[in-house]
Order: sequence, then C-alpha cells, then structure tokens
Amino acid sequence: MLRSKIAGVGYYVPERVVTNDELSQIMDTTDEWIQERTGIQTRHYGKKHEETTSSMAAIAAKIACERAKIAPEEVDFIVFATLSPDYYFPGCGVLLQRELGITSREAGALDIRNQCSGFLYALSVADQFVKTGMYKNVLVVGAEMHSMGLDFSDRGRNVSVIFGDGAGAVIVQATDNQKQGILTTKLHSDGTYAEKLAFINPGAHGGYHFKKMGEERDFGYPPADTYGEIFITPKMIADGDYYPNMEGPFVFKMAVQKFPEVIMEALEDVGLQPSDINMLIPHQANLRISQFVQRKLGLSDDQVWNNIQRFGNTTAASVPIALCEAWEAGKIKEGDLVCLAAFGSGFTWASALIRW
Ligand code: ACO
Repeated sequence: MLRSKIAGVGYYVPERVVTNDELSQIMDTTDEWIQERTGIQTRHYGKKHEETTSSMAAIAAKIACERAKIAPEEVDFIVFATLSPDYYFPGCGVLLQRELGITSREAGALDIRNQCSGFLYALSVADQFVKTGMYKNVLVVGAEMHSMGLDFSDRGRNVSVIFGDGAGAVIVQATDNQKQGILTTKLHSDGTYAEKLAFINPGAHGGYHFKKMGEERDFGYPPADTYGEIFITPKMIADGDYYPNMEGPFVFKMAVQKFPEVIMEALEDVGLQPSDINMLIPHQANLRISQFVQRKLGLSDDQVWNNIQRFGNTTAASVPIALCEAWEAGKIKEGDLVCLAAFGSGFTWASALIRW
C-alpha cells in the first residue's frame, strides 16, 4: 500500500521586520500589551506592490522542491491554502503555477479556504490523492500577505498587531516505506460561530446571515430591486467594514478546548500517547494558546516549536513555516513523530501525525 511522506519543506518570510514599537507609533497599542497577551515581538511585512501571496509561495515552493529533489515541473498537483489571496478569483493555485513556470503540464491546482487550519486541510487532501496513487508529487502551500488588508487604525488594533506575512510549502510524495509518512489526519468544523472571526466584506451575503441571526446591521445596501453594490457598498467603505474582525476572548476559549481534543483524537486513532510526540507544531495563533496546549498534554519545551515571537500569526502559512524551521534547526529527524495542529476561523480545526 502506498503512503505519503513529506519529502521536502521550504519557507519564506519577507525581509522587512516590524516591531511592536513601530506599530505603537501608528495605533494605540504598546509592546508590553502585545507581548503579554500574545508573545509576539516582531512580524514580517511584504514589500507592497512587489511581493504578494503567490510570489512568496513560489519562493517557498522552489525550496521545498529542491529539498525533495524534484524539479517544479514534476509537481502533479497544487493545493494552496490562504485567506489573503492575490485576487478574489481566480485563486492563488493557478497564480503559483504561473510563478513557478510550470503551466505547460496543465497540472491541476486547488484552493483551500480554511484560514488557520487551511494548511492541514490542504495536507489531508494531498495525502488522499497520493495514497490512492492518483498523484506522485503534490505541492502543498500555505501563504499569506496580511499586511495589505489590515486595519491599522485604533479600531483594528486587536487584530492587526497579531498578523504577519509569509509562506510555507511542502512536497507530499508517494512512498512504499510503511514505517514512514502521514499516519492520520483529522479535520473538523462548526459553522455556528462563523462570524466570530471573519472577513465579511466584500461578499455576496447581502445581509442574509445577519437577518437570520436577528442581528440588525446596516451594510448600506441599495433597495432590493436595484442591481450592484452588493459585494462592497459606499457605507462599508465609509465604516471601514471591509477588514477582518475577531471576538478574541471567545476564539481563545474555543481554541484551548479544540487543540488538545483534536491532537488526542489523532493519537488515539493510531494508538499513541502525547509522550510519543517528538515535535508538536501548533498553529501560531497566540503563544498563550500554545503554552496551554503544551501543559495540557504534558509536553516539555523541546517537544513544542514556537516562532510566533518572531513571525506573528501567519495563518495558513504558520504550520509549514514552523515545520520547516524546526526541520532546519535539526529538531526533526528520521523516525520522529511529528504532530501538526491548528484551530481558526470557521471555526475549523485539524491535526496530523507524521512519522518522519
Ligand atoms: N493594544 C492595546 N490594547 C488592546 C489591543 C492592542 N493591540 N487590542 C485590544 N486591546 C484592548 C481592548 O480594547 C480591551 O480593552 P478594554 O478592557 O478597555 O475593553 C483589552 O485590550 C482586552 O481586550 P481583549 O480582546 O479581551 O484581549 P485578550 O486578552 O483576549 O487578547 C487576543 C486579545 C490576543 C486577540 C486574544 O483574544 C487571542 O489571541 N484570541 C485568539 C486568537 C486566535 O486563536 N485566533 C485564531 C486564529 S486566527 C484565524 O483563524 C484567522
């Protein structure tokens, strides 16, 4: 039976480092608040008009291909996770294909919209394709250019201080080696709380969900018998209602519950214990969340990789960036049990166990 293994990893973060003090000069925040609540010290922002989600992804992808010892032309399929795509449509998958110069094979490209757990959903899709023998090399990418779409006024400070830009990529490859590879993936969602952490406008919702929830919210729509001005209205622009919003404490409480649950579910599926984990790579949402999960599972500091201090929350890119960093630092070796886990907007949450 075929299995899928991660044959190569790569990541890229833009050169520009942005400190908390820099942010405190443009909005009402402090280094102390950000560090105490999130652990974040710095994040990277891409070069406006010169870098984008797919261009950063291409850099990470090339490194992953090189390490997997394949040429980009050998990629059979692309799965791309992001919440900050270059365009509303088409998705970043095809743009990455073009960036890599591999359009001649006309290999498929799929976009995943699962925010912080997007990379894990993407990895699971790749795993299924590879295990069934449909594809040999699948390029899985998580990339975000948050800095282009955040509210840097005081109004958006609870969200904007958290996020950073970057990209991570892996090559998921078929192997006959039964001792290696992706052991299991677990995917979950609950749309009940979709609006608790969301980027609502522009969109085609027309106020539907809010009316259904009994929430009076004026988006400034024109009368129902007129066309247009639905995705984005002048009122939305005037109100700044086109940025991500988050009920932070609510999301925090859900995250600390779901992270351990989904990790335990994966471990139980393959008959292993938390103590068997050599490296846990949690999605880098908040250092306090990762520390809570670490304590709950009884893991030591060298069993968990955290880099939110330097990169902030890079959403779909955070897991592959952290995985790649840990690997580069020699903290993931052949035979190690690596656990990936994420929770985010949707809500969606997921885990994966990999025998490296
Ligand atoms: N600087 C200074 N003060 C701030 C800032 C800021 N940047 N942001 C908010 N505050 C203020 C608030 O206005 C509030 O003030 P008040 O008490 O006078 O009303 C106070 O700080 C506390 O605000 P909270 O939102 O309650 O702060 P909290 O301790 O919960 O921290 C945070 C906020 C960091 C966002 C936290 O709630 C969190 O990490 N939540 C989970 C995030 C997460 O897991 N997201 C999922 C992944 S992201 C994705 O899927 C896209």
